[in-house]
Amino acid sequence: MNPIEITQLSKIFNPSSESKKVTALDNVSLNVEQGSIYGLLGPNGAGKTTMVKILLGITFATSGEAKILGTSISDFQVKNRVGYLPENHKFPNYLNGEDVLKYYAKLGGVNSTNGELMNKIDELLDLVKMRQWKKMKIKKYSKGMMQRLGLAQALINDPELIFLDEPTDGVDPIGRKEIRDILSDLKSEGKTIFVNSHLLSEVELVSDRVAILNLGKLIREGTVDELTSSKEIYKIQIDEEVSEDFYSTSLANFQIQKSSGNTFETLIADNDQLNNLIDKLRSENKTIKSMVPLKNSLEDIFISLIADSNKNSKL
Ligand SMILES: Nc1ncnc2c1ncn2[C@@H]1O[C@H](COP(=O)(O)OP(=O)(O)OP(=O)(O)O)[C@@H](O)[C@H]1O
Ligand SMILES: [Mg+2]
Repeated sequence: MNPIEITQLSKIFNPSSESKKVTALDNVSLNVEQGSIYGLLGPNGAGKTTMVKILLGITFATSGEAKILGTSISDFQVKNRVGYLPENHKFPNYLNGEDVLKYYAKLGGVNSTNGELMNKIDELLDLVKMRQWKKMKIKKYSKGMMQRLGLAQALINDPELIFLDEPTDGVDPIGRKEIRDILSDLKSEGKTIFVNSHLLSEVELVSDRVAILNLGKLIREGTVDELTSSKEIYKIQIDEEVSEDFYSTSLANFQIQKSSGNTFETLIADNDQLNNLIDKLRSENKTIKSMVPLKNSLEDIFISLIADSNKNSKL
C-alpha cells in the first residue's frame, strides 16, 4: 500500500456551462511511496491545488479514484493522520502564534493534556524558529513568518502524511533552506510529504520523485535524475590548448557541439563511442583532465516540456 494512490482522476469545474467549464485535472494517475518527498510541479492554473483539495476531501473529483493511507478519500477519520498547509492560508488574525497552534490542535482533534500540548507547541515553534514571536498577534506577522507558522500548524497532529501547498512562498533564502532541512528530517522519520510548488530549484533539492502537470494533464513523472539526465552530452577538458583544427580534423568522427581551447562538448551515443573517443585522445597524446556528463536543470526540462505541451494542446 502506498500512502497516496491516484487512479484516472479528473476534475471539471462548471461542467454544464460551455463558457465557464474548466478541466482542472484530466485523467491523472500517480502513486507516492511511503517515506518519500513527492514534488508536484506545474505553472499557475495547472491543477496542483485542485489535486490536493480532492485528496483532502475539500473538493470532489468528477471521475476517477484516490486513496490516502490506504483509505478512500471520503473517509473523514483518516484526516486525523494527515497534515495540511494550504496555499494562501489565513488564520484568525486576532490570535497570536501560540493560540493559532492551540486552536488547530483542538480543531484537528489532538488528544493530549494541556501540558503536553503546550510542550508540543513550543517544540514546533522552535522547529520553525518562531518561538520568540509566539505571543505576538499574527496580524503583525510578515509573510515568511505566517508561512513558518503554517508549517508548524500542519505538523500539530504529528501526521504520517503531509500536504504542503507552496510552503516556501514569501520565505527568504535562509528560511527556505531551513524548511528544506525540516522536510528532510520529517522524511527521515518515515513521514510522507507531498509538496506543490513552482519553485523548481527547491523541489529539485528535496524531492525523491516529481510530477509535472500542465493544463490538468500529467506530462512527466519520475525521479529528478530521470528527468534531468541529458542525452549523453559530455564536457571534456584536456590539459593543453589545441587549435580548432584539432577538433575538425582529428576528432572529425565525433559530434563536437562546442569547443574552445582545451575544452569541448560532445554528444556520445554509447559506452563504445565514449571509449573510442578516449582511445583517440590518448593516441593523439592528449591527457584528459576531466570528463563530465552534463545535466539539464529541472528548470530547463520544465520549460521545454510545458512549451511542447502547450503547443500540442493548441493543435
Ligand atoms: N472553484 C473553482 N471554480 C472554477 N474553476 C476553478 C476553481 N478552482 C480552480 N479552478 C480552475 O482550475 C484550474 C486549476 O487551478 P489550481 O488552483 O488547481 O491551479 P494550481 O496549479 O494550484 O495553480 P497555482 O500555481 O497558481 O497555485 C485553473 O484554471 C483554475 O482557474
Ligand atoms: Mg495552487
